[in-house]
Amino acid sequence: MKDQYRITAEQATKWGISLLTKCNLNKEDAGIVVNALVKSNLRGIDTHGIELIRHYARRFTTIRTRPIEIVQENETTCLIDAGDNYGILASTIAMNKAIEKAEKYGSGVASVRNSNHFGAAANYALLAAEKGMLGISTTNAGVRIPPWGGKDAFLGNNPVAIALPGREYPIILDMALSVVAFQKIVIHAREGWTLPEGWAYDSNGEPTTDAKAALKGMLTPLGGYKGAGLSVMMDLLCGAISKNGFADNVLSIEEYDKPRHVGHFFVAIKIANFLPLDVFKELIDSYSRKFHAVPRKDGIDHLYLPGEIEHEKYKDRLKNGFTLTQATMAHLNKVADEFGIEHLA
Ligand SMILES: NC(=O)c1ccc[n+]([C@@H]2O[C@H](COP(=O)([O-])OP(=O)(O)OC[C@H]3O[C@@H](n4cnc5c(N)ncnc54)[C@H](O)[C@@H]3O)[C@@H](O)[C@H]2O)c1
Repeated sequence: MKDQYRITAEQATKWGISLLTKCNLNKEDAGIVVNALVKSNLRGIDTHGIELIRHYARRFTTIRTRPIEIVQENETTCLIDAGDNYGILASTIAMNKAIEKAEKYGSGVASVRNSNHFGAAANYALLAAEKGMLGISTTNAGVRIPPWGGKDAFLGNNPVAIALPGREYPIILDMALSVVAFQKIVIHAREGWTLPEGWAYDSNGEPTTDAKAALKGMLTPLGGYKGAGLSVMMDLLCGAISKNGFADNVLSIEEYDKPRHVGHFFVAIKIANFLPLDVFKELIDSYSRKFHAVPRKDGIDHLYLPGEIEHEKYKDRLKNGFTLTQATMAHLNKVADEFGIEHLA
């Protein structure tokens, strides 16, 4: 058995669509979900790539869903009920709604309730940036972080992405609110790797470098009380505005047989309503030149703008494919066997 498997985007996409169509999803929607996952692999965010499909396949063949519907809408805002359906589908609809409104009225905001895991936050903020807009996307998630000084998990690792259009690539910060995303702990535990210090607590709230203990424990918030505070705000944006679940009402991704009550929040703002888009992109260029010219410490070859590393990986991986570990492949092959489709590799 190999340690690493090299996969192309086409292979992963074809395989992913064949799996989700076996899970009663039509081909078009399966394409939207799988493209979002594979885009994360291409951008180097493997924790939120094709690997996640195993959760989706199991959840959506276990739980009853309702059609995604618009609950209320006016010129600039929109509330969507995802009907416990795929988070990626509801979020794509929601961000496209926000963009449509921003195109017409300058800004658009969409809130989503009764949803599920939406993958990487970047995918939606990028949709806005690709249309020349500021995009913001955030979601709440199952609780994994204690309030600052608390002993029990109460906060989700609620990621937020903010994207701006650039000339060569968008500037996009997409980050979870813990020191690292939970999927990184999952991968460390599975691979038998030790965690770097400061990533996690054990179930007693004590710092740990044991990945298995961290799986049963909690994540350390980014920047101490500031990260914990950001998590509160993202939870309320996603959970309270949509009159959805928040804090410990949002269930974990692995509770396949129960509605998770995940909420999302999306904003699009048309840059051209403030200044011509070309002029804005020139400003981004000049910012970027100055940023990259900052003197570097010894051993640092390059200073990266948010999203720059992912942009470089995207170009490389689109051409050369990406690798999945043996453990990830074993998970994907297991789900392939469960649903009677061919192995990915
Ligand atoms: N759906 C969910 O419930 C959920 C929950 C948590 C995380 N996530 C997703 O997990 C993914 C990973 O999150 P993360 O916090 O581990 O991301 P990360 O730490 O890999 O990157 C965070 C940001 O820092 C930038 N960055 C990374 N290295 C850099 C460097 N050396 N110099 C300058 N900038 C750098 C990246 O461009 C990125 O914008 C995200 O896509 C997030 O949306 C999703």
